[in-house]
Amino acid sequence: MQRDKKVRAGVAAGATGALVAASALVALAAAPSATAAVGNPYEGAEQYINPDWNEDVLQAADVAGGSLGDDMRAIANEPTHVWMDRIQAIEGIDRQHGLEWHLDQAVEQAGGSPLVFNMVIYDLPGRDCFALASNGELPATDEGMERYKTEYIDAIVEILDRPEYEDLRISAVIEPDSLPNLVTNMSHQPCQESAPYYREGVQYALDRLHEVGNVYSYIDAAHSGWLGWPDNASGSAQEFANVVEGSTYGWDGVAGFVTNTANSTPLEEPFLTDPNLQVGSGQVRSADYYEWNPDFDEIDWTADLYDRMVAQGAPSRIGMLIDTSRNGWGGSERPTSASSSSDLNTYVDESRVDRRTHRGAWCNPDGAGIGERPTVSPSGYAESHLHAFVWVKPPGESDGSSEEIPNDEGKSLDRMCDPTYQADKLGGAYTGALPNAPLSGWWFQDQFEMLVANAYPPIGDGGPDPDPTDDPTDDPTDDPTDDPTDDPTDDPTDDPTDDPGTVCEATLEVVNDWGSGFQGQVTVTGGSGGTSGWTTQFTLPSGTSIGSLWNADYSVSGSTVTASDMGWNGTLSAGQSTSFGFTANGTAPSAGAVTCS
Ligand code: BGC
Repeated sequence: MQRDKKVRAGVAAGATGALVAASALVALAAAPSATAAVGNPYEGAEQYINPDWNEDVLQAADVAGGSLGDDMRAIANEPTHVWMDRIQAIEGIDRQHGLEWHLDQAVEQAGGSPLVFNMVIYDLPGRDCFALASNGELPATDEGMERYKTEYIDAIVEILDRPEYEDLRISAVIEPDSLPNLVTNMSHQPCQESAPYYREGVQYALDRLHEVGNVYSYIDAAHSGWLGWPDNASGSAQEFANVVEGSTYGWDGVAGFVTNTANSTPLEEPFLTDPNLQVGSGQVRSADYYEWNPDFDEIDWTADLYDRMVAQGAPSRIGMLIDTSRNGWGGSERPTSASSSSDLNTYVDESRVDRRTHRGAWCNPDGAGIGERPTVSPSGYAESHLHAFVWVKPPGESDGSSEEIPNDEGKSLDRMCDPTYQADKLGGAYTGALPNAPLSGWWFQDQFEMLVANAYPPIGDGGPDPDPTDDPTDDPTDDPTDDPTDDPTDDPTDDPTDDPGTVCEATLEVVNDWGSGFQGQVTVTGGSGGTSGWTTQFTLPSGTSIGSLWNADYSVSGSTVTASDMGWNGTLSAGQSTSFGFTANGTAPSAGAVTCS
C-alpha cells in the first residue's frame, strides 16, 4: 500500500528509457502521486505508542495508586500524537525526545508491519493569534516566515524523507487553530497580521510534506462550538479550499481534516439530537448554550464539514479525524436521560453532557474526561466519513498555566486558563479552568486524575471504584486503599470493629487575594484509616459569598460551606491528598485546619 519513491522511479525508467527516465525522476520528485491511492492510512496499521507519554502515565499511576492508578495503566499504551511545537522540538528538549528518536522507535515498534506515526505541525509565524497560552516563537513577519520554512518545515521534511522511514505512514495534523482563526477572528489585529503567513505557511507545509511521499496531512478544522454556525462553516469551507487550491499539489496533498484538536467538545450529545426540537419558548439550538449553532457535537461538525468541502471541490475520498482524548464527560455528573423541564435553557443545561460554562472554554476544563479510545474507521457515523478517532492532545498535558509562570518557551499567561477570571469571550462566565496548572505541554497530574476518573466510555471495570472495601475482585496485595477487613488472608485475630483511625484531615489556604475577593483551596488528606468519601466544612466571614467551586459538590448554609467529594476524588489512602478550589467575593477567611469527616 505504501507509495514507494524508488518503485515509482523504476516504473518510469522502465517505461520511457534511460534519458527520459532522468527527467521523469525530476518530475516525479516534484509531483508525487495522489494520496488518494492509499485512502485511509489508519486501515490495517498499528499506531505509534509514544514512550515519553507512556512513561508519564505510568508514573502518574504510581502517584495516584488504587483503582484510579489501574485505570491509568490500562490506557498507557494508547497512541498519542507527537507535537513538533517549536524548532527545538525537532532535536528534542529536556522533557521530550526529538523527531529522529521517535521515528527510530516507530520503525522498531512497526517490526516490518504497517504503522502510523502521528505528529502535529505547530509553529506558524504569529501562532495562536487569538490566544496567549501557546503563542509561538516565530513572529508574523517575512523573517519569521523564512525561518518557518527553512528551520522548521525543511528540517522536519529532511528527517521524514530518510529512506529508513519510508515504510512508516506519517499522519500529520496541520497547524491547529490557524485557518479557523482567519475565519472568525479577523477583527483582532494580531490575526490580521498573521493571516498571510498562515496561508503561505500551511501551503508550504502541505507541499513539502506531500513530496515526502508517505505523509498524510489533515488540516485542523477547530470544533463544532467554534465553526458550527452556518456562516462560520461556509467561511471555513471557503478558506480551507482557497488555501488548498492555491498550493502546488492542491487536494493531492490533503488526506482530510481533523477536528477538536486539544478541545473537549463531546463526540455526541446523546440527549440533544435535534437542534430544531421545540422546547418551551424556542428551538433547542436557540438556547443560551448553543446560541443558534445547530452543530452540537463533533459528529455533527465532521458530517457538515465533509459535505461542505466536497461541495467546494474536495475529492470524495477525504476523511475526518476527531481528537477524542479529552471529550468524554463521564463521571457521576453525566446526565443519563433528557431533562423533563419545559424551560428551554433548563432543558438544555440538564440534558447536555458537556458541562463547561460556555463552549468557548478551552483551557484545562473542569469536569472533562478521557473520551473514546483511538479507533480506526469507527462504525455508525457514515455521514462523518471518519478515518479514525485519535488522541492528538496527549491527556495529562496542560493547556496553559493558571497563573503567570516565567519561561523560555514563548508562553504567556492566558486568562482563559485562570479559574478566577470571568471572561468576556465567555459572555462573562468564569473560565471553569482547573487551578494550579503548569505551562502548556507540561504534565498536570491533577488534571490527568480527573480525566481518567471522568472517562466516558469508562475505563476498565467502570471507572474508579467508589468503595474499594466492597470489591471482591480487588487484589488486596496491590491496592493501598483496600480494606484489610475483607481480606481472607488477614490475621483472623484482627477485630473488624477496631478503631479505623482518623478518616481525613483538611486545611484551607488562600492562594490568591485581590481585596474584593479571593481564591481558596482546601486540601484533603486521607487519615490513618484512609477514606472512601469525605465531607469538609468551613466558615466564611459574614458577607462573603462563593462565586464558583470546583472538584467538590457543595452547599452553603448561612456562612458555613459544606463540600464533599465528587466520587472520583473520594478515595484516599492514608496520607494521600486531593484538593478542591473556589473563588469568593468578599473578605478572605484565615487559613488553617477545617473539619473533615
Ligand atoms: C502546547 C504544546 C504542547 C501540546 C501538547 C499545546 O497546547 O502549546 O506546547 O506540546 O499542547 O501537549
